[in-house]
Amino acid sequence: MKEEDQPIGIFDSGMGGLTIAREIKRLLPNESLIYFGDSKHLPYGDKSKEVIIEYSNHITRFLLEKGCKAIVIACNTATSNALNEVKSLAKEKNVPVYDVISPVAEKMAFTFNQNVGVIGTKSTIASHIYKKSIRKLNRHIEVQELATPLLVPVIEEGFNNHDISDVVLKTYLNNKKLQNIDSLILGCTHYPLILNEVKHFYQNKIQVIDSPLIVANYIKQDLEKKRRTSYNAKPAYEFYVSDLTPTFAKLAKKFFGTNINLKVLNIF
Ligand code: DGL
Repeated sequence: MKEEDQPIGIFDSGMGGLTIAREIKRLLPNESLIYFGDSKHLPYGDKSKEVIIEYSNHITRFLLEKGCKAIVIACNTATSNALNEVKSLAKEKNVPVYDVISPVAEKMAFTFNQNVGVIGTKSTIASHIYKKSIRKLNRHIEVQELATPLLVPVIEEGFNNHDISDVVLKTYLNNKKLQNIDSLILGCTHYPLILNEVKHFYQNKIQVIDSPLIVANYIKQDLEKKRRTSYNAKPAYEFYVSDLTPTFAKLAKKFFGTNINLKVLNIF
């Protein structure tokens, strides 16, 4: 197989990363994809850095063994904690690593926004990765961070677009830390499912950032630049999870938008 036709490997702690995979498939329809969702160890948002690095490295080795030409860390928490480790593993095979934070930080650093809000898991927010990445590029921008841990279980239980998500969102977004922001990054792969609710809360007064689109666009441009884009007419899709329950199957459809064939694979 030609090198550029090798699959793109994408991983997340579970199903949320499918919001990124879905956008990659939309913008790069000729690329073969291998997705790995570590549903056995979900959620990463409350785990220690050491454990997140261990799981992320393990999945990266698996994707490299499958011959992936690029790795996408489709999880904010894994990016916050394990980006350097994943990059050094992939570097041995000259495989580029994309993550869900750097392209968004780059974009935010060079827009007119001056006061950027970020919401995410406890672990992502505790790492201050968004603040550090944006301010490294433009120190004039203020970044306000808020952990919003209840949102993942609310979305997973199907309570988005619901009175429950409404109360939870209002409680978080009314936090005084976020009062003067002019833009908000949804710093978790689950949050695209509440994008419209967040937009509705702000009534167009601030810019709400659509991360999957920014990330997929970045990957598309970078692959083109590196001449690693595939033009394969029959791309293949493989979706693996480390544990499968009816809930995960239901969530997969919700996050990816269509039914997918999930296979359980015990790589740990
Ligand atoms: N995928 C995680 C993220 O983007 C959220 C779910 C989890 O905590 O594992 O931060």
